[in-house]
Amino acid sequence: MHTLDDIVALLQSCENEEQFARLQEEALATTLREIGPEVHFRGLIEFSNICSRDCFYCGIRKSNKKVERYCLSAEEIIELAEWSAKQGYGSIALQSGERSDPAFIDFVEETLRQIKSKTRSAALLNGLGITLCVGEQTKETFQRFFDAGAHRYLLRIETTSPSLFRQIHPSKQSLQTRLRSLEYLKEIGYQTGTGVMIGLPGQTYEDLARDILFFKEFDIDMIGMGPYLSHHDTPMSLYAEENQKNRLHIFKKSLAMIAATRIVCPKINIAATTALQTIDPAGRIDGLRFGANVLMPQTTPPGFRRNYLLYEGKPAMDENAEETRLALEREINEIGRQVSKNRWGDSLRFYEKVRSASGSPPGK
Ligand code: 5AD
Repeated sequence: MHTLDDIVALLQSCENEEQFARLQEEALATTLREIGPEVHFRGLIEFSNICSRDCFYCGIRKSNKKVERYCLSAEEIIELAEWSAKQGYGSIALQSGERSDPAFIDFVEETLRQIKSKTRSAALLNGLGITLCVGEQTKETFQRFFDAGAHRYLLRIETTSPSLFRQIHPSKQSLQTRLRSLEYLKEIGYQTGTGVMIGLPGQTYEDLARDILFFKEFDIDMIGMGPYLSHHDTPMSLYAEENQKNRLHIFKKSLAMIAATRIVCPKINIAATTALQTIDPAGRIDGLRFGANVLMPQTTPPGFRRNYLLYEGKPAMDENAEETRLALEREINEIGRQVSKNRWGDSLRFYEKVRSASGSPPGK
């Protein structure tokens, strides 16, 4: 059992070169021992930047009138899904701004069904694995998406500190609602993912350690988290200078968060996110070295990527998806890891829970 103080100590090691190197070694050893060297790819499809929320940190918030809004058609999304399947990714992550209008829900449900039916093949008997990431929804909506074929869902809590959560969201949004949504996802049977932003103004090591304790207590299956990066067309651009000045520190803290999460929750899936790469071109590979085992290579067509700017400086804007994949695979092999092919790459922790609930001894 790790206490709050233990986790704070792990995180603080990012301030000392030697301790940081030891943390990295421990996290990597834990990864290899508990889940092995494989890295799972999810073809990332950012299918729409239309959003009904107004989060103070996010570049595609509703009130940002400078963003040109788009929504890919079902055909375009399916084409990207099929492309991902052809690359051997095994899974996709479908992500968009948050909407809860009936037209959107119908659209997502129908698109999920089509993706599932069109990506069944000899290599993928049950079609592509799908992680959905379209924000807070009602339990009924989550259920419809599950029935249509999404089996993993990512909904970031952003921070478990009630005061920080209030500072970065409009008063309409609440930590309780977010938590309830996560409970629904779990009850329905999704592999449930969450995550936080690292380096928020005023966030302490203790806040971050409590986030990790929450991951453990909730028994989360997957994590996607990364540095907070300022965007000039948001209310939080107030902190842009501070954010800019601290980037290297925030980067290290993010790697320490990945490492500490791996040590505390050894069998979950942890993604090395694009935000890491924004600070350092090798950031996602560093994420893997510190305990991550999932990567989400971009598949969104370059023309649309420019409009999916949650934060500034988002990398690989002009790269095409094929180049992204080849470069990533090479880098992964260089650090002695392998990309898994044509598999869903599910969270081992999820199956551990399923097994123990069904009464058979673990490990069978
Ligand atoms: N910096 C870093 N991450 C951000 N996100 C949104 N805006 C930013 C930002 N400025 C993250 C949030 C959200 C996810 C889709 O992107 O954590 O849940």
